[in-house]
Parts: sequence; C-alpha cells; structure tokens
Amino acid sequence: MSKAGPSFTCTACGASHRKWQGRCEACGAWNSIVEEAPLSAGPKALGGKGKTVALSDLSGIEAPPPRVGSGMEELDRVLGGGLVPASAVLVGGDPGIGKSTLLLQAAASFARKGLNCLYISGEEASAQVRMRAQRLGLADAPVRLGAETNLRDILTTLDAERPGLAIIDSIQTMWLDTVDSAPGSVSQVRAAAHELVTFAKRRGVAVILVGHVTKDGQIAGPRVVEHMVDTVLYFEGERGHQFRILRAVKNRFGPADEIGVFEMTGVGLSQVTNPSALFLSERGQPNPGSAVFAGIEGTRPVLTEIQALVAPSPLGTPRRTVVGLDSGRLSTILAVLEARCGIPFAGLDVFLNVAGGMRVTEPAADLAVAAALLSAREDVAIPPETVLFGEISLSGALRPVGQTENRLKEAAKLGFSQAIAPSRSKAGAVEGMSVREMPDLTAFTGEIFGA
Ligand code: TYD
Ligand code: MG
Repeated sequence: MSKAGPSFTCTACGASHRKWQGRCEACGAWNSIVEEAPLSAGPKALGGKGKTVALSDLSGIEAPPPRVGSGMEELDRVLGGGLVPASAVLVGGDPGIGKSTLLLQAAASFARKGLNCLYISGEEASAQVRMRAQRLGLADAPVRLGAETNLRDILTTLDAERPGLAIIDSIQTMWLDTVDSAPGSVSQVRAAAHELVTFAKRRGVAVILVGHVTKDGQIAGPRVVEHMVDTVLYFEGERGHQFRILRAVKNRFGPADEIGVFEMTGVGLSQVTNPSALFLSERGQPNPGSAVFAGIEGTRPVLTEIQALVAPSPLGTPRRTVVGLDSGRLSTILAVLEARCGIPFAGLDVFLNVAGGMRVTEPAADLAVAAALLSAREDVAIPPETVLFGEISLSGALRPVGQTENRLKEAAKLGFSQAIAPSRSKAGAVEGMSVREMPDLTAFTGEIFGA
C-alpha cells in the first residue's frame, strides 16, 4: 500500500489523482479535482480467513423475503416489481424536480402497506416535512420522521428502531465525523453511502438514498455511489412540463430502462398509467414535421410525438438543435438521408424535439426521426393515424427492432390504424392495424413523400 498523503479526487467521476491538475485524465472534466482527506493506508497484515460456500449448496440459506409493493404502481414497476428487502436504492435528480415529494409519498404508501418506514431529512426540519405531508394529504400516514445529518446518530437510530425502509434525503447532506472534509464532498458522500449500504445489507433494512445531480447530469459527488447501490433511479423531467419520469438506469433486481411516469400537480405527484395518451395529447391536426414513434420503454410500449422544424439558415454553419434525443443520432440520420437518398440538409437549420419533455434513447426511433425531418423539409404531413418505428443503418437499410407486436397493440389501442416498419419485422396480425413494411430509407422516402 502506498503511503497515505493528501489525495485528489475528481468530483465528476470519482477517479483519484496524486496531484492537483486542471483537467481529470479519467473523464476529461475541467476544474473538477478537489483535495480530499487521506484514505486509510489499509491493513498491514493479512486478515482472518473468510468463509466460502459452494454455489450449489443452498441448505442453510433461507429463501429471501418477498418484495414489498408500495401500491404506487409506477414506482413498483421501476423497482422491478416492488422494493427488495435489505436493498439499497439511489434516487438521483435535479434539485427541485420532486425527489422529496416522490419519496414522502412513497414512504406513506409503503407505510400503509405495513412496512415500518423512517424518513430522515437532512435538508428540512421535521415540521417542514410534516407541512409538506399535509399539503400532499398524507398527514395521517404512519411514517416516522427524523431530521438529522450526523451519520453516526442516524445509524444508532436505525439500529434502535430497525425500520423496514429508511429514506435518506439527501446523501449530500450527511457527514461522518471520522472523515475530515465537508458534507457533500466526494469522500463524505462516498463514506456515508458506504456506511448506509453496509448497514442495509447487514441489518436487513432497505435504504433509499436521495442524490442531487450536477448540472452536467451526474450524481453530485462520485459516480462510486452508483456502483455501491443495487438500484439507481433517475427522476427526470423538463421544468416547464408537469411530467416527471422515474427511470431505472441500473437494477440488480429487475430490468433497467424501465420507466414510471408521474405528473406534478398542486397536491403532489400523481401517477400516469397511460403515458402514450398523455404524450400525444398535445397533438392537433396532422401537420408537417410531426411523426409518431411507437417506442418501448423498459417493458412498456410508449407512443411519443417527434417534431421537426427545417428552415433556411442565415448562418454559415446551420443550427442543429435537439431536445430529448441524442444529437449524434440526428447527425447520422441527416448524413444517411443525404448520402443514400440524395436529400441534402446543407444550408438548412434543423430543430428536433420530443414532445412532452420525454427523452427517447431507442435506436428504433430513427425512422420516426427521419420521417419528421423529411415531412418538415418537404412540407408534407405524414398520413394521420400512422406510427413508425425502425432502426436506420448506415447503408440506408431499415433494420427490424424488437417487440413489434407490443408496439402495434399500443398504437391500435390509441386509435392508430397504420404502422410503417422495416421489412422482416415479423409483425403478427394486430386487429385494426395495417403494417407497411419497407426495406430501406429510399423506398420509404419514395412511397411517403414521392422524393
Ligand atoms: P421537491 O420534492 O422539494 O424537489 P427535490 O426534493 O427534488 O429538490 O419538489 C419541489 C418542487 O415541486 C417545487 O418547485 C414545488 C413543486 N411541488 C408541486 O408542484 N406540488 C406539490 O404538491 C409539491 C409538494 C411540490
Ligand atoms: Mg428535496
């Protein structure tokens, strides 16, 4: 082990460095390196022998206790079917997005299902949490509250009360007196998370940690917290929109990429059980530049509207503005349209947007993006009642995507009657839907836009 000296840690990625430098070599972030209290030098001698068991030998291991549902379906789905006892969950999100509101509501729901819940706030006094609960109509929920930031006290409390679930809001306000740096610093966050996660596993208490996210979208403090916990959920949404999406980005006990949709109202978050209807509700008459994408989020089909605007650019380098989609993907699709279909976008500003504040990450959205772009460029509306999905390869071919039938069923349910999909999509017949299969982008542009 090296001699313990001061260490320098990147607040963006958690990498440690021997000396201060302006740019982190590990993640490339500028000005993110801070000095941290030295880590312990580690054990000098060998430790005691640990115990190992045969994988096949299950005798003596009890069956794990079943998951606990909160009754909030959107939350349970994202957790993979309920909260796993003794698991550690991290809920990240921008300040003010609604994390405390969500978790207070979750605590109340779990408590009403008989789980002993303790909500510890390091940011608000208990009276303030109670006021919020009143506003949410949860004042009579059997949840215990604590306002504490010293982790030693919190662990003692948890040990004495042995709740089934402890919510720590937020991990950035917690501090350990054995670590010599300010709350919110990388070493404090890391140490506090480590203590809480170990406690959770050892004592069978599930913990949910709240983490604020930095402006570039990472959980403030180290990424290492993400590695320590079993499940990482992001609570996201555009501030101007009332929709909030809870997304599982990592889940040891369930599918990642699962989403739960909520709406922020005057009395807290309400669940949105039919997100497609919500995301499409702003759609009026069919207009050029709009295409409906039949997507899959986790295990659930979600229809979203992709909007494009294409206009002559006064600039030498035309603008490419994207909201809710990957901008690299837009460049690729524009390049394929130009190179394979002979439709140039040079000299044109392109704006692309997913309606409703939704974020789409599936490659299956490519075809809908191309359709929206072409529709805006040619000023021709896509036939209404049409949904699209399919991945575009660099050769311009359309590649089939998974879960075709689920996509079609959801579209049919919402009143769509036609789908445009890649050839070989293996689309089983879905009542009320006709599927037009196309081999490549050239066939698509020819058939739909006559281009
Ligand atoms: P909050 O849960 O405090 O956010 P976070 O813990 O992520 O920082 O939510 C803050 C925002 O939510 C605040 O701007 C007001 C809004 N809000 C409502 O619109 N309705 C409500 O019932 C509540 C409690 C909050
Ligand atoms: Mg909060």
